[in-house]
Amino acid sequence: MRNAISLFCSSGIGDLGLRANGVRTIIANELLPERARLFQANYPDCKVFPGNIWELKDDIVSYYQANYTEPPFLILATPPCQGMSSNGMGKMLNDYRKGLRPKFDERNRLILPTLDIVAELRPEWVIFENVPNMQNTLIYNKDGNLVNIIDYIFSRLGDDYIGKAEVVDVADYGVPQNRKRLITILSRTEKGKAYFSVHHSFIPNPTHGKVATLFVQPWVTVRDAISSVPPIDGKKGQNALPGFNPLHKVPPLDEKKYIWVSNTPEGETAFNNQCINPNCGYQGNQRHGAKRVSGINQACNDTPLYCEKCGTLLPRPYVKNKDGTLRLMKGFVSAYKRMRWDEPASTLTQNFQFACSDNKLHPSQNRVLSIYEALILQSITNYPYSFIVDGKMASDELIRDTIGESVPPLMIDKVIQKILSIS
Ligand SMILES: C[S@@+](CC[C@H](N)C(=O)[O-])C[C@H]1O[C@@H](n2cnc3c(N)ncnc32)[C@H](O)[C@@H]1O
Repeated sequence: MRNAISLFCSSGIGDLGLRANGVRTIIANELLPERARLFQANYPDCKVFPGNIWELKDDIVSYYQANYTEPPFLILATPPCQGMSSNGMGKMLNDYRKGLRPKFDERNRLILPTLDIVAELRPEWVIFENVPNMQNTLIYNKDGNLVNIIDYIFSRLGDDYIGKAEVVDVADYGVPQNRKRLITILSRTEKGKAYFSVHHSFIPNPTHGKVATLFVQPWVTVRDAISSVPPIDGKKGQNALPGFNPLHKVPPLDEKKYIWVSNTPEGETAFNNQCINPNCGYQGNQRHGAKRVSGINQACNDTPLYCEKCGTLLPRPYVKNKDGTLRLMKGFVSAYKRMRWDEPASTLTQNFQFACSDNKLHPSQNRVLSIYEALILQSITNYPYSFIVDGKMASDELIRDTIGESVPPLMIDKVIQKILSIS
């Protein structure tokens, strides 16, 4: 049986793709105790190290060396992505060149202890998964020099490993969701090196595409994935169907949000809603948009909140001023927006229960996605997994965080199939 070490394992969603291929996660590390407990409940034979990788890296190495004689088959490392933003990177770089020491997100340095573990245990294969912006992320290395994180990975592992960082969209692998990720696969095996020298990539060929061809099927759409799930509604009392599935539930919408959402057509944002006065029904009110001001995208501030023809309040998101008057809520056209039935879902985050979060409204029902639907759209329901810990269902918050931060297991499944075909 091939074994794996999962770093930043969260609750073990990505690891489902390993297990589906007979690769056993024998050691895992996760900072947050409740996620580590959920992981342990699903992988009872795994040695889980709950806590900070900086403090645990030596214990992880010693534990492996004490219990196993051969190097691990795989290390899967999925560090947090919240710090990997290119915002302000140019200015920081300029400051650094001027001899100043700009502050960088410490979370981006989690690659350092990760690479210490890789260098000590020398797995046959390594997979890093993160957001595409990881490519542009700078970190201070151990010597205090500012380096690009991907360059650092390759310089640290030297000639021992070969591989490449590549951006993929998980929709191209059958996940009903457009979610771009940076996947870096490295190998130090003879077979791996021979394969890479010919093909220059370890990433599997896409199985799906926007348009079907001889080689790929069409993307799996929201309709394919969730249209058979029974309807619920954002009105209190109708917002759950526990008899169908305890996770098929949504937070209720308050009265005004319900009006905004119920007047929003598929693929549209509530910011573009038109007049609902039955005596007017004007459909030509100015739409909301964004403009670039000094190189920065800004939502327009002249979008009307009252019908330009009859003066009735439009069902668009608003807030109340101190003097009681109403003004359009600040927000982009991706907020309060319905998904489209015939496309993959947009990228799921932990915020999928908020109507104001980007593209999170159900395509036709007046509500956000249910937790159960999010599990489907992240391909988690394709695999056996339980949210029950010590006989109790995990909290909604933990489940949502687990889904939003996870790697779709189907993507990892296909990557592992590819690696196994080379090994
Ligand atoms: C992107 S998520 C991993 C998702 C996971 N692979 C999955 O598919 O479910 C990153 C995880 O790293 C954990 N983390 C953050 N800082 C950490 C640290 N210093 N040591 C260990 N884990 C950490 C976070 O709590 C989070 O659960």
